[in-house]
Amino acid sequence: MQNLTAVITGVGKALPDRRVTNADLEQMVETSDEWISKRVGIKERRMVADGEWTSHLAARAAKDALAMSGLAADALDLIIVSTTTPDTLYPSVSCLVQREIGAARAGAMDVAAACTGFIYAMGTAWAMIRSGLMKHVMVIAAEVVTSSLDWTDRDTCVLFGDGAGAVVLSAAEGGGAGILSMRLQADGNYADILKLPNSGSRAFPEYAGRFIKMQGNDVFKHAVRDMTECATDALAAAGLTIGDVSLVIPHQANIRIIDAIATRLGVPPEKVFINIEKYGNTSSATIPIALCEAVEQGRLKPGDVFIIDAFGAGLTWGAMAIRWK
Ligand code: UT7
Repeated sequence: MQNLTAVITGVGKALPDRRVTNADLEQMVETSDEWISKRVGIKERRMVADGEWTSHLAARAAKDALAMSGLAADALDLIIVSTTTPDTLYPSVSCLVQREIGAARAGAMDVAAACTGFIYAMGTAWAMIRSGLMKHVMVIAAEVVTSSLDWTDRDTCVLFGDGAGAVVLSAAEGGGAGILSMRLQADGNYADILKLPNSGSRAFPEYAGRFIKMQGNDVFKHAVRDMTECATDALAAAGLTIGDVSLVIPHQANIRIIDAIATRLGVPPEKVFINIEKYGNTSSATIPIALCEAVEQGRLKPGDVFIIDAFGAGLTWGAMAIRWK
């Protein structure tokens, strides 16, 4: 029996150039920079240009991650894209990335688990590698959330932005660096508190258009409780305690959710990665974008253990403990 795990060998990110500031939103809905900054922690977010789609962001992030890994595109066995805002349901975004980067040998599939999708995609890739079936898997999260926003609804339109992040996972001997543990969870009983009506085969005549609908307070409470529990469980599954963790990279939905989780986990602020002020909530892309920036800023040293921890519609939530190479 082989003792395999998956190690991160490359990271990348892609953000659209266009910035939408809180001042811009003040012109569109009854809101204020003060409310958004204090209640959510966002100062600006990015938005795609006309003709710029999810697959473009995904491919750019993938190229960066591949360059860092030093692998040729045809070394990839599989491309997984987490997205709930694909260019089209089919072809999948992963197939468009496969074509764009020239990954001739790779299979390709999209995964939909809302904001938790990157962790579900990482878990799938980990299982493929750990089983010995695959050696190199590209995991991307790419979202154009602004395509699902009602720009007259201040409850939601101030919260989200567009972006993509990617990692290359490669097979490595277990016991060293790489993915240490994982928790994936869901509870469909709360399907109604965060949804995108009119986005599939079911018609919702009670809602005009295809826009995010959210019961923000309920989502907030679940996010704090479930992300705290999940990170704790992932650490326990790895045989670690919070004192072993160098960095927590949480889903960036609200600065107050992040602060509440950090307090409950007993993690000091300097060990929590936050970039929500620049990009807002890019759904499943927040974690790989943050991971890429953490690497760029030298916040992860060889041997450091970090936690990724997310929550989203479904409800879904999940966490992983990972040792940086
Ligand atoms: O990625 C996962 C999905 N999303 C999340 O995790 C988001 C989770 N939820 C949240 O982050 C927060 O619940 C929100 C940011 C959505 C809302 O913050 P809140 O502190 O829960 O505000 P609230 O809904 O309780 O509203 C407080 C007040 C209300 O006014 P009144 O009734 O007190 O007069 C709202 O009408 O804030 C008002 N409000 C706004 N004011 C200015 C709501 N949105 C805005 C806005 N600008 N954009």
